[in-house]
Amino acid sequence: MEKARIGKHSTVVLFPCPYQGHITPMLQLGSALHSKGFSITVVHTQFNSPNPSSHPEFNFQSLPDGLSQEVISSGSLLDIISELNVTCKAPFQECLEQMVKARNVPNDDDKVIWVIYDELMHFAEAAANHLGLPTILLRTISAATFVSRSAILQLEAQGLIPFQESISEEAVPNLPSLRFKDLPISMHGVSEKFLNLMKEACHSRKPSAVVWNTIECLEQSLLAQLQKQSKVPIFPIGPIHKFAPAASCSSLLPEDTCCISWLNKQPDKSVVYASFGSVASIDAKEFTEMAWGLANSRHRFLWVVRPGFILGSEWTEPLPKGVKEIVGERCCIVKWAPQREVLGHAAVGVFLTHCGWNSALESISEGVPMICRPYFGDQKVTARYIAHVWGLGLQLENKLDREEVARAVRRIMEDEQGEQIRARAEDMKGKIELCVKKGGLSYNSMDNLVQFMSF
Ligand code: UDX
Repeated sequence: MEKARIGKHSTVVLFPCPYQGHITPMLQLGSALHSKGFSITVVHTQFNSPNPSSHPEFNFQSLPDGLSQEVISSGSLLDIISELNVTCKAPFQECLEQMVKARNVPNDDDKVIWVIYDELMHFAEAAANHLGLPTILLRTISAATFVSRSAILQLEAQGLIPFQESISEEAVPNLPSLRFKDLPISMHGVSEKFLNLMKEACHSRKPSAVVWNTIECLEQSLLAQLQKQSKVPIFPIGPIHKFAPAASCSSLLPEDTCCISWLNKQPDKSVVYASFGSVASIDAKEFTEMAWGLANSRHRFLWVVRPGFILGSEWTEPLPKGVKEIVGERCCIVKWAPQREVLGHAAVGVFLTHCGWNSALESISEGVPMICRPYFGDQKVTARYIAHVWGLGLQLENKLDREEVARAVRRIMEDEQGEQIRARAEDMKGKIELCVKKGGLSYNSMDNLVQFMSF
């Protein structure tokens, strides 16, 4: 990428939401801006703090986040994020004040400090506004998820949430691609806390701009609609990982590269890669069905089983004996993989995924078809779009059983339907390559963002 003229020698302060699926795109945005000449400071919580040694080019500042042990032990994302929005505001403001003070030395007073914050960390905007610092909001979700969240707020205001099971298959008004059951909520309704967080995330007050980790060639009409409604510019620069160095890693867990050596020994497009992100967990019964389904498909598979993924187990204890026997042969299991490298590997033929937005973007960028098994939140929206709007995969909808898993794998790996899906995935990969190349939509959007921040 070309070095831009950074008019005011800006510093960018990043405040990520402390979960893997949010830290990764924020640090990738930091890498992209650093390569354009900005200096980057990552202010982060003590909870799930990123590893500074993986980004020696950034400054890292840890914030006393004030999270109570009780809320950490609850493991509730909603409770943790809601509490951070209260407890981090004062220390973050103090931290920004120190930076502003340090900036005001002779000949240094024209430096701009930009604050880029995750949409779930809305307190950061208030803290920056208080000091008159310009802010940019980073959305780490798809445009489709954003509009589905807006729809929830409208439906709730109309008293239509919780919804009856009888309408779960019906299309959401004004969102024909989504059924009620695809909305990123439980059928049984939503808590006040959830609604408040969504309201803050959807109706952010006054950032100077919105950066979006999505791609125009995937979500063009939704983005156009959102830009029309927005009072500030929107920069869709996805997939952000394409603008960060391939080697940059922001994993909170150590990556086990032995799976790459195993993949190197497998034929092209022969492997099912199964991985479910950093948060989802399943019960031992579903894990067992999945294990048999993968094994019975007769295909090779690489499975990321995160410690804690199986409820009530340390690691893979519930793995059935018959499946254990093929580990090391046509099955490889690791605790955490270098996922981008895996998805870019020639041996991978399909991705069995929970449809976290980062995983989806990484798979789409590599032209890998998906089998979607969403668990909660935005994963359900993304799964629906992958399978029914973009035609880049299949969705497992019912109670998971081994037959269904094996059938889905065979359909992608062996059937004509799979071939068609693979052809569409290859086509989309080509479009994305054009988007991130010089002159492409995301490339230009990134350039426009840099210009916007420079003058
Ligand atoms: C969470 C939510 O679950 C997701 O729905 C939301 O879109 C973002 O926040 P997570 O579940 O972790 O994220 O999923 P995802 O968005 O896919 O992010 C996971 C990241 O971890 C990806 O960048 C992926 O490459 C990485 N990863 C995952 C690894 O590097 N190695 C692994 O073994 C598994």
